[in-house]
Amino acid sequence: MDQNSTIKPFLEVLSGRRQAVPPIWMMRQAGRYLPEYRELRAKAGGFLDLCFTPEFAAEVTLQPIRRFAFDAAIIFSDILVIPYALGRSVRFEVGEGPRLDPLDTPDKVATLSHEADMTKLEPVFEALRRVKRELDSKTALIGFCGAPWTVATYMVAGQGTSDQAPARMMAYRHPDVFAKIIDAIVDNSIHYLLGQLKAGADALQIFDTWAGVLPPREFARWSIEPTKRIVAGVRKQVPDAKIIGFPRGAGALLPSYIETTGVDAVSIDWAAEPSLIRDKVQSRVAVQGNLDPLVLIAGGAALDRAVDDVLTNFAAGRLIFNLGHGIQPETPIPHVEQMIRRVRGSDGRQ
Ligand code: CP3
Repeated sequence: MDQNSTIKPFLEVLSGRRQAVPPIWMMRQAGRYLPEYRELRAKAGGFLDLCFTPEFAAEVTLQPIRRFAFDAAIIFSDILVIPYALGRSVRFEVGEGPRLDPLDTPDKVATLSHEADMTKLEPVFEALRRVKRELDSKTALIGFCGAPWTVATYMVAGQGTSDQAPARMMAYRHPDVFAKIIDAIVDNSIHYLLGQLKAGADALQIFDTWAGVLPPREFARWSIEPTKRIVAGVRKQVPDAKIIGFPRGAGALLPSYIETTGVDAVSIDWAAEPSLIRDKVQSRVAVQGNLDPLVLIAGGAALDRAVDDVLTNFAAGRLIFNLGHGIQPETPIPHVEQMIRRVRGSDGRQ
């Protein structure tokens, strides 16, 4: 076999080798902006049925790869499968987002199990194996979990909130109680990520969507420290595991996040300050990001300009082109194609 054909540009960047044309994928690339997703979603019934039916989860994972030939596929699942495996009730209400049994008092937290039922997550591993068989040799496969802080915000509140006040309040009032939730998520996320690597994931991403609501001291304790333990726990078994962190909204705290956690790359949101990122972040790890998902909806000259800004700001170093957060359901598909053409050059695929 031609040796070049087995190189995955996405993994090259994570391994420290900048690519002339940055590899590209999109957070939430499998989802409601795709008609083929909406069709399968309607067939599957509930959202968790879609996640836990390997045939469906694998198909949905591959849909954006077939359409756009992204450099990486991300397994179709959700960060809330960990609370689900911990025995919490997790439901996804249409148009409302996730609903869990709130874990909002010390008494309730005392009942929380520390041992997830990993057999509940077996369908995710099976979906990974199926996707792996289908991907060509240039396309990487990403596994993921939520960072403990972000997963805990949903577990405590029982739903998404705008400021994560319930979890922040519990962390101030009852730090030892809150730590029990965090510890359960840390330990089970390590097993879950190791299971994903074993099932064929080439790299892992840890989503800390709500990191940005924490003041620096709390950020160090509830975002950085637990993430560091996950990274160390995974690397204890798989020393060369490639791990991307996404502490959304971390801003000026990003340098200490990368230094302490030991991630190989950091996904940055669109508000990140370019010179800080270049000098203090990209000089040490790869950077992934950071197009504003709203400009992908807007399209036109604004989109071209925003793509060029990301390339101007970060393409001289190790860059994985991505959005600064997940793609929104109302995004027109031609705008995604426009973005990809602009990143890769007019011939589409490098
Ligand atoms: O990126 C991908 O394509 C892989 C799949 C993926 C999903 N969720 C599928 C999903 C990933 C990586 C996630 C991560 C996730 N889930 C995060 C972290 C990343 C981020 O976007 O901030 C968070 C906070 C969640 C929790 C979650 N799941 C919320 C708040 C919601 C409802 C809001 C929404 O976007 O609808 C979900 C549901 C969800 N997860 C959907 C998808 C495609 C939509 C469900 C549907 O089809 O009805």
